[in-house]
Amino acid sequence: MMQDALKAMVARAALAYVNPGELIGVGTGSTVDKFIDALGLIGAEMAGAVSSSNASSARLTARGIRVFDCADVGEIAVYIDGADEIDANGCMIKGGGGALTREKIVAAQSRQFICIADESKKVEVLGHFPLPVEIIPMARGRIMRQFAEMGARAQLRCVDGVPYVTDNGQHILDVHGLHITNPLAFEEDVSQWPGVVCVGVFARQRASCCLLGTPGGVRTLNFA
Ligand code: 5RP
Repeated sequence: MMQDALKAMVARAALAYVNPGELIGVGTGSTVDKFIDALGLIGAEMAGAVSSSNASSARLTARGIRVFDCADVGEIAVYIDGADEIDANGCMIKGGGGALTREKIVAAQSRQFICIADESKKVEVLGHFPLPVEIIPMARGRIMRQFAEMGARAQLRCVDGVPYVTDNGQHILDVHGLHITNPLAFEEDVSQWPGVVCVGVFARQRASCCLLGTPGGVRTLNFA
């Protein structure tokens, strides 16, 4: 089955986690785009959404879904987002779409994190997918050297030859060659480096559940 069809399948399955009158968090990416489209189609009666990117906010608004500023709301019932990699404990690499910082903020404010992903995202050890790290531009050289000292290679994300700029006005390094055997320790360490805005390892904000799209149907992985 095509990856696209698997993404559509888990996006529809995630509708079961949306309850009338509740506020939901909405992530970013191609899987989430399908979830937003499905929300629009069923005319879900939730209170509204808090979004993790300008792109998702625009898509939600275009489908008639009210978008709230994260700063103006309290606890969010459920956060629904994709992942670039997810391990057996629900720890993830995120940020392929560049929205990692806002994704972590909305996830931190949510009771549950439902990850929607096709089966290609399930891994034994995080790190094959280049790890996105949002940084303050002036810290780039030193942070790249710090990753080099770990034996990894950090590359500035560029689009059409110019640095990619996040919704927060910062840059992203994509770090190749990592093998993250202790995601929580890694996240806590790199998060402390001066100039790091957000590291794309989601261990503290790991998923509570993953709806994994497989050719045999949706597999629900619950993480204790
Ligand atoms: C965006 C993300 C996405 O969740 C991740 O990149 C997965 O995207 P897709 O659903 O397109 O495969 O973290 O910053």
